[in-house]
Amino acid sequence: MRQAGLPDTAATEKDRNVRRNLMKKSMGAKSLIFPMPVWVVGSYDKDGKANAMTVAYGGICCSEPPCVTVSLRKATYSYECIVSRGTFTVNVATEAHIKEADYFGIVSGKNTDKFAVTGLTPVKSDLVDAPYIEEFPLILECKLAQTIRLGLHTQFIGEIVDVKIDEAVLDDGGTPDIEKVKPLIYATQMRRYYGMGEYLGDGYTIGKEIIKS
Ligand SMILES: Cc1cc2nc3c(=O)[nH]c(=O)nc-3n(C[C@H](O)[C@H](O)[C@H](O)COP(=O)(O)O)c2cc1C
Repeated sequence: MRQAGLPDTAATEKDRNVRRNLMKKSMGAKSLIFPMPVWVVGSYDKDGKANAMTVAYGGICCSEPPCVTVSLRKATYSYECIVSRGTFTVNVATEAHIKEADYFGIVSGKNTDKFAVTGLTPVKSDLVDAPYIEEFPLILECKLAQTIRLGLHTQFIGEIVDVKIDEAVLDDGGTPDIEKVKPLIYATQMRRYYGMGEYLGDGYTIGKEIIKS
């Protein structure tokens, strides 16, 4: 802290950290980050029943080969489905299916056919041994590449063998358009779903304004 009568330049690094800590409150070690995705992971159980569960713990983790990661607790039914089949799909949940996306995350497929209850359509992938959701516009078909036991969650890294997208969510140039997909965003801790915000600037571009100045 700055002491009376001393110029600020005399502050030590420890003083400066004390001042910073007054402004930022420590939340402790937590799996807290904004934003998180809302994805529905599709898999088949041992009897061939299609199942789906919601995950927020996930992200793209490699560009070459293209890979995605989802982290599941062993207690979920999907966990054993993915381990036994070695494949899964990632279905991006959108504003149009917010209720179904939440439902997939609060009911287990162990004793329930979640597709029958929601009326959504599981489609057998031609490429992987897992179902995708016809009504969701953006889907990743994945082969399980690595499994990393972290603690409560186990991270499944899937190699993306194909991306399927509805033509209706492509722009005029054929590029996937996030404003047409309308993906859900999850605010963990608050346990709330949000939609996208507005366009703010171009990636790999707007930062050049700092280089110029
Ligand atoms: C928004 C949301 C995000 C979730 N994220 C995860 C997650 O990342 N990992 C996980 O193990 N469970 C997560 N869950 C809980 C599972 O989706 C839930 O336990 C589900 O019922 C498991 O389904 P299953 O037993 O059919 O596999 C989430 C639930 C919701 C509502």
